Amino acid sequence: MNFDLENLVRENIKNLTPYSSARKEFSGAAQIFLDANENSFGSPLAQNFNRYPDPLQTSIKEKIAEWNNVKPSEIFVGNGSDEAIDLLFRIFCRPQIDNVLICPPTYGMYEVSAEINDVKIKRANLTVDFELDFERIKNSIDENTKLLFVCSPNNPSGNSFERENILRLVKDFQGLVVVDEAYIHFSQEKSLVSEINNFPNLVILQTFSKAWGLAGLRVGLAFADEKTIKLFNRVKPPYNVSQIAQEAILQALENKSQVKETIAEIVSEREKLIEKLNEFSFVTKIYPSDANFILVKSTDAEQIYKFLLGEKIVVRNRSNVELCAGCLRITVGTSEENKALLNSLEKLTEENTEEENLSTDSHR
Ligand SMILES: Cc1ncc(COP(=O)(O)O)c(C=O)c1O
Repeated sequence: MNFDLENLVRENIKNLTPYSSARKEFSGAAQIFLDANENSFGSPLAQNFNRYPDPLQTSIKEKIAEWNNVKPSEIFVGNGSDEAIDLLFRIFCRPQIDNVLICPPTYGMYEVSAEINDVKIKRANLTVDFELDFERIKNSIDENTKLLFVCSPNNPSGNSFERENILRLVKDFQGLVVVDEAYIHFSQEKSLVSEINNFPNLVILQTFSKAWGLAGLRVGLAFADEKTIKLFNRVKPPYNVSQIAQEAILQALENKSQVKETIAEIVSEREKLIEKLNEFSFVTKIYPSDANFILVKSTDAEQIYKFLLGEKIVVRNRSNVELCAGCLRITVGTSEENKALLNSLEKLTEENTEEENLSTDSHR
């Protein structure tokens, strides 16, 4: 592999003088802070939020670094992993010149971020059984392909790619391979975070929105070589993670065992749900899932989707997505939620049977 980070970065970013925030310029021990135009009188709340938060989320990074056996300088903390995705475009992709490669069906934000940044998307679809298509990937790459997104476990198919297969791409590609591990905590496969020291072109995305149950806080992570993380820090807005989010994440990191229990429960609910869903005649296939959702192929996705909406249950209709004709993506809920879903589907089966009986009657 012939990877050169310097070559990959946009000129304007290389030449950028980053914004230097008050909190970055002075981080010593003072008693009176009159440097950041904050409001020294406090906030109209029980807790004060009148001071800007730590721009580099030092305490969070220290904890996550220790836990993942990496250095704090190899971690970026963002306003959701969606922020990291957008930053990758802004740092590396020249609008209207560069392109990125995605492997559909996959998470929609890669494409939206590309469009926002006026960067071309190339698509190397997965195979029909949702595996990486190496030949297609290889043939889609050109000298302006800067990023290759691999989502594992993949949204919406739910499967993970084998570690060796992802690393094969990392070894062969001269740009950055971005492995989105939003759902890794539900997976059989181990995270690739441990590989960032072996591959300077590997970026791993993770999030607190899924297994950690903290989607409302908006906190995501990127792990990569510290040179890449430095670039993230240069380009990101100065205070991209709020004080309240930083405090809550620090507390949550003390409750890892609770998260582990929830993961085990979700995985067990997932398996139960798969078993029950398989009993419905309108379900034609359930794809194996390594995530907290299931991709279900059905005879009539639109009808089921609308029926469930009438029952006040929202699932995701993915039937217009590549390779997902007839498919609904169903998030695994609590045991009660899953039961309610199954009850509603029973109701739909009964209604369909009644209708069938009526129409056979009328043909008699
Ligand atoms: C694959 C994948 N990556 C990233 C995200 C977004 O994560 P965050 O909430 O951290 O922005 C999602 C959300 O659904 C996702 O499915």
